[in-house]
Amino acid sequence: MVRQFLALALAGSVAALAAAAPAAAAEGTPPPPREKWSFSGPFGKFDRGQLQRGFKVYREVCQVCHGMTLLSFRNLSEPGGPEFSVAQVRTLAAEYKVQDGPNDAGEMFERNGRAGDRFPAPYKNDNEARSRYNAVPPDFSVIAKARTYERGFPWFVLDMFTQYQEHGVDYISALMQGYEDKPPQGVNIPQGLAYNKYFPGHAIAMPKPMEDGRVTYEDGSPQTLAQYSKDVSAFLAWAAEPHLEARKRMGFQVMIFLLIFAGLMYFTKKKVWKQVELHPEDLTPRPPTEYKT
Ligand code: HEC
Repeated sequence: MVRQFLALALAGSVAALAAAAPAAAAEGTPPPPREKWSFSGPFGKFDRGQLQRGFKVYREVCQVCHGMTLLSFRNLSEPGGPEFSVAQVRTLAAEYKVQDGPNDAGEMFERNGRAGDRFPAPYKNDNEARSRYNAVPPDFSVIAKARTYERGFPWFVLDMFTQYQEHGVDYISALMQGYEDKPPQGVNIPQGLAYNKYFPGHAIAMPKPMEDGRVTYEDGSPQTLAQYSKDVSAFLAWAAEPHLEARKRMGFQVMIFLLIFAGLMYFTKKKVWKQVELHPEDLTPRPPTEYKT
């Protein structure tokens, strides 16, 4: 009876999951194409050059609208990130104006940024952003983790084994390239919004942020929208998880430790039970009269 019930429940959930996948596709938001990332997989590492380029794109394009208030300037020079030099970070921080205070007169004042300061937000509050852009541009500190998309059954099960975690970055990269000047037939986009293939609902308040040639790269990388999109997404992945490399390294060390530990435990168990295995006849059960009540 219980078995039958379990089998039924399992069959039901499999059917429901299988039905859910086409439902997501039917809404008309195509899944973002999967890209290759240097930081994917158990041994993935960020590409320093890519992070530096991504930061340049953020600074020159996205920063006007999107803040990154959980990140400090000094993070940019830490190991595992874009690894700018400390001097570079100081110069960079000094280009920003940061509010500080109160001073002796009790007033708040502005000063040049220092490496320990966080990135200042581009607007005072959400209402100001809304009145300017029609919507609030989300903060970028953890956006690569906060945005994702449904892969549907059976992918979300397989993803656990293939360790695919780059849903957010794939989405952001696709979003940058998903603008189309003319929405397809039958799709109405309200005034002030733009059509984007990958944005759920397609009507996005963010105007197309960049096109080919928008940012100048000094390292000879192609100055194309596709390259900018990948670079800025990789940078956001780092911003959302600055310790990714350390986490992956630690994970690998833990696996090795567990493997050695399991081996040691196996031989310990063999030794402890050796006498019992050699002389099972010595093991006579205690009569119940010897039990303490
Ligand atoms: C002119 C202002 C502006 C610029 C420049 C801009 N954005 Fe946006 N962005 C917005 C607004 C407004 C929204 C909110 C859109 C909405 O909710 O419809 C948004 C939303 C987003 C989202 C979230 C989409 C979602 O799924 O909710 C991402 C990711 C994003 N922007 C990335 C970027 C990147 C990367 C850049 C730089 C290359 C950039 N934006 C430049 C205004 C801007």
